[in-house]
Amino acid sequence: MQTCKKNRSLLIEILIALAFVGGALFASTAAYADAENDALIDEGRIIYDETAGGVGCAACHGLLATGDPDAGAPYIRGAGKSEVDAALDGAVPMMGFIELNKQERKAIVAYLGYLTYAEEVLLDPEVAAGKVLFEETAGGVGCQECHGIDAQGDIGPNIVGKETADIYEQLLDNPAMGFIKLTRVEVDSVAAYLNYLHDLETH
Ligand code: HEC
Ligand code: HEC
Repeated sequence: MQTCKKNRSLLIEILIALAFVGGALFASTAAYADAENDALIDEGRIIYDETAGGVGCAACHGLLATGDPDAGAPYIRGAGKSEVDAALDGAVPMMGFIELNKQERKAIVAYLGYLTYAEEVLLDPEVAAGKVLFEETAGGVGCQECHGIDAQGDIGPNIVGKETADIYEQLLDNPAMGFIKLTRVEVDSVAAYLNYLHDLETH
């Protein structure tokens, strides 16, 4: 009887410890990291980037769902099930050619939710400063002028994930970029932003 009680209290202790570890893990890896959700996000990313309607939602809404004024397609990060369903089921005639089943829609919504995590990372001052330099101010035009929206490439190549050293090399040696003057801190910020774009793509 005695041992049985002892065992039981040991068992309870183990359970409490496990719950504690589980809780800590959950807290540290945030809501997006559980395996099932991860798989769903990956599925949604492929549909979003490439397969929806044979072109991907990205064709109109932009690779990171921030919208594309030229296509008249709005920012849709964080759009919920009802908004996605409405848009696909007739509210947006331009999207009429896209057919997605229930599972695919669920995956898309998970992915759009994941992209809102992008907003939180942007609260990091270094990344936020890098975004402004990238999009608008570096050299008076922004890197985006030549490297395209979300650094996907335009006149200049795709530079997602490029690091401080890569940027310095170009600022010194690349005649096309010679007019851009940046401080060390600014180069670090731009690199932080390019790294952020890389994380978003690969999560
Ligand atoms: C061919 C271009 C195109 C594609 C591809 C496309 N959309 Fe759209 N989408 C639009 C346009 C344009 C609008 C805005 C319509 C309007 O404002 O009347 C829109 C609106 C939306 C809205 C409503 C947003 C709002 O604020 O009202 C959602 C949600 C949406 N799209 C989701 C998606 C998803 C998810 C995909 C991929 C499965 C997708 N779209 C693919 C062009 C597109
Ligand atoms: C006026 C146009 C222009 C602007 C603005 C510009 N770049 Fe470039 N960049 C280029 C071109 C063109 C190349 C390709 C040069 C080559 O291949 O020799 C390049 C190459 C690069 C490369 C090397 C990529 C590789 O794969 O080798 C990096 C990194 C880079 N740019 C970063 C930046 C950053 C960061 C900014 C903003 C601070 C910026 N660029 C602004 C035109 C530009």
